Amino acid sequence: MDGRSFEQRLLQQRARMHVTPGQLLERVERSPYGPKSKAILRQMVAHESTGQVGFALFDCPPAIVRGQGATVWDADGKAYVDMLAGFSVSNVGHAHPAVLAAINAQAAELIHYFDLPNAPRERLAERLAAMAPGAGPKRVTFGVTGAEAVDLAIKLARWYTGAPTILSAYGGYHGVTGGTMATTAKGGMWAFFYPVGPHDAGHGKIPYSYPYRCPVGAEPEHCAEACTSYVRRMLMGKESPFGEHRGGISNVAAVLLEPMQASAGYIIPGDGYLKEMRAICDDFGFLLIDDEIQAGMGRSGRLWGCDHEGVVPDLLVVSKGLASGMPISAVIAPDEIAASWGPGAHVATFAATPVAAAAANATLDILENEGLVARAAATGAYFRERLAELQERHPILGWIDARGLFVGLEFVRDRRTKEPAADEAGWMLDHCVREGLLFEKGGYLYNRFQMIPPLTIERSEIDRAVAILDGAMTMAETRSGIARPLSVPVTAVTGGAPSPSPG
Ligand SMILES: Cc1ncc(COP(=O)(O)O)c(C=O)c1O
Repeated sequence: MDGRSFEQRLLQQRARMHVTPGQLLERVERSPYGPKSKAILRQMVAHESTGQVGFALFDCPPAIVRGQGATVWDADGKAYVDMLAGFSVSNVGHAHPAVLAAINAQAAELIHYFDLPNAPRERLAERLAAMAPGAGPKRVTFGVTGAEAVDLAIKLARWYTGAPTILSAYGGYHGVTGGTMATTAKGGMWAFFYPVGPHDAGHGKIPYSYPYRCPVGAEPEHCAEACTSYVRRMLMGKESPFGEHRGGISNVAAVLLEPMQASAGYIIPGDGYLKEMRAICDDFGFLLIDDEIQAGMGRSGRLWGCDHEGVVPDLLVVSKGLASGMPISAVIAPDEIAASWGPGAHVATFAATPVAAAAANATLDILENEGLVARAAATGAYFRERLAELQERHPILGWIDARGLFVGLEFVRDRRTKEPAADEAGWMLDHCVREGLLFEKGGYLYNRFQMIPPLTIERSEIDRAVAILDGAMTMAETRSGIARPLSVPVTAVTGGAPSPSPG
């Protein structure tokens, strides 16, 4: 102990987590944005809770007021190459005319009528049930947000199996509601739930393959196997809370995983991770819940992230890109599981409203008609090549995860020691935003860039982004004295090209 009382430590922790409106205002005033943006930001600081997420993602968030394709504009008319896409939402590009037309036409008929059937919603349910991987009939349960759908999947898995525990992974992100926070591995966000921990009894954590920094210490090429062996060994013995295999006791309802971890820094697990987790679920009688909220809808160059490993989950969760910005989410499950509920097991006033369902149908039409899944694979391969060129020249770029347009970049001060370049990543983000490139920074060690543009992004826009990144890396290397020549040869690119699939 360090001599502080429990209360003192808690108070100090709270003080560190708290930011005053005055401090946020200082960030607004020193930000590089123009007067109209600053006026909006001042209003935000004056009237919104200090818990709003923008100031957690950026020193000061931009005030985006318009979007077209893969470009967005802030309130002062400054244009940005959009490598955030509203967080994997605007996959078909901002202001797609077919989405606008569908929303307008449906809004003129009926915007909302509780959680009751409507024509676009039932058409969507039929389409989603047919789109999910695996043979056999499926059913859909609708929600409004991603977290709500994950809540739903957990509730359904527990109901169907009669078991309490949900295993989720370190690094996973599945929402921040009271029901999902236990599955989201962000300790800093957990702390905002004090004094009641954000979990019911039925949760456990397992390692997720992160080849560059394997959580169980394996080399990148062995990380997937090492992580899954760890899980299997833990389940085989009797000294874990998850069951007693020899005694035929299982306390686990489901394993909940992202096929590629988004919020942890856009991390692609080592080959075989998801497949082996599927095998573990089969061997131990657990359901597999696949959270495709970020990785799905074509982002990875396949329709679903799980398609890269040919894995068929039991429950598939989708939201974000489904309706191009209209709030909607869904859980797709086999008939046997989804038909085990009675009426009223779930309700949400704004679930699959006619307008949201119409926007989702239009989005699915666009994915099909414009071949956007294959386009994401092809543009993603181009982006990966351009990034690999940068990695040849920039020692600070330690690792690239890239699968379709799901891209994570990891920055290090030294490729040999992998010392994270966290401060440098912060300077580079500020530089990129000033230069007109928008994306989020994250990662376990605050040193990863997360790039998720609309799937419609043009190669010329990728080139512009690469040029800005090039300048940012040069600036950071000079400022930190990160030496050339490269200390370790470049081998570090994962998520290699899948053959494009029409999905
Ligand atoms: C993989 C994943 N699951 C769930 C969620 C939660 O979605 P929402 O913010 O709509 O509740 C997110 C949000 O970023 C996500 O990335």
